[in-house]
Amino acid sequence: MIRLENVSKRYWMGDAQVVALEDVSLEVAKGEFIVVLGPSGSGKTTLLNIIGALDLPTDGQIIVNGGSLSLSQRADRFKFRRKTVSFIFQTFNLFPSLTAQENVQFVLDMANEPHAQQKAAQVLADVGLGDRVNHFPHQLSGGEQQRVAIARALATGNPVLLADEPTGELDFRTGIQILDLLQQQAAAGKTVLVVTHNREISRIADRVIELSCGRIVSDGAPRIGKATLSELQW
Ligand SMILES: Nc1ncnc2c1ncn2[C@@H]1O[C@H](COP(=O)(O)OP(=O)(O)OP(=O)(O)O)[C@@H](O)[C@H]1O
Ligand SMILES: [Mg+2]
Repeated sequence: MIRLENVSKRYWMGDAQVVALEDVSLEVAKGEFIVVLGPSGSGKTTLLNIIGALDLPTDGQIIVNGGSLSLSQRADRFKFRRKTVSFIFQTFNLFPSLTAQENVQFVLDMANEPHAQQKAAQVLADVGLGDRVNHFPHQLSGGEQQRVAIARALATGNPVLLADEPTGELDFRTGIQILDLLQQQAAAGKTVLVVTHNREISRIADRVIELSCGRIVSDGAPRIGKATLSELQW
């Protein structure tokens, strides 16, 4: 579905070069539940941003449906972002002056979806926030804000879900609820990539891609044994 070929991403900071990703090749198939694991600074967010066409590689290519997205027009990448991927950002990125309902409805309005209001209310109810729709982000707990961000990502029904540290700020119980929601999405046929530095979380994945210093150091089944959600602890 999405293929990265020899992708590198380098930044110049004055005279110094920062290598965020180095020669990364991988293929993401439809319906996979993938965890991207690695320490802080290993390139996880950079990788997610490139897969979601938020950012372009310095070298290498992203191939989607046989065509190169990295060589394509800006408008094609915009369409890919609108129609194919949904991001759950590391820092939520909710609009502070919009309520939970309005934050979700916004993306539906942007996509000219009919019945945006009812759809937004439904997806917020699905993530357990039916009684928080009129709250502004500052009136919600961290876990609730995270769930609004997830509701927003689910609202459009895009087939690829990219989640950057979706449980990073959360307590264990809320973290498990969020992972449950993401697992349900994968079970329903979506492609889900979850970025985390928490190795325990990688146990619920079909496939774990491990990054170190911008390189893939392993790619396969969880190394410490597959587990169900109820078996996880951290
Ligand atoms: N816009 C940028 N300009 C310069 N360097 C950058 C930029 N974005 C990322 N980097 C550097 O690239 C490396 C990888 O960053 P990235 O954000 O992908 O790491 P990460 O694995 O997501 O880390 P964390 O777990 O802390 O979120 C880091 O060393 C970072 O400092
Ligand atoms: Mg990051």
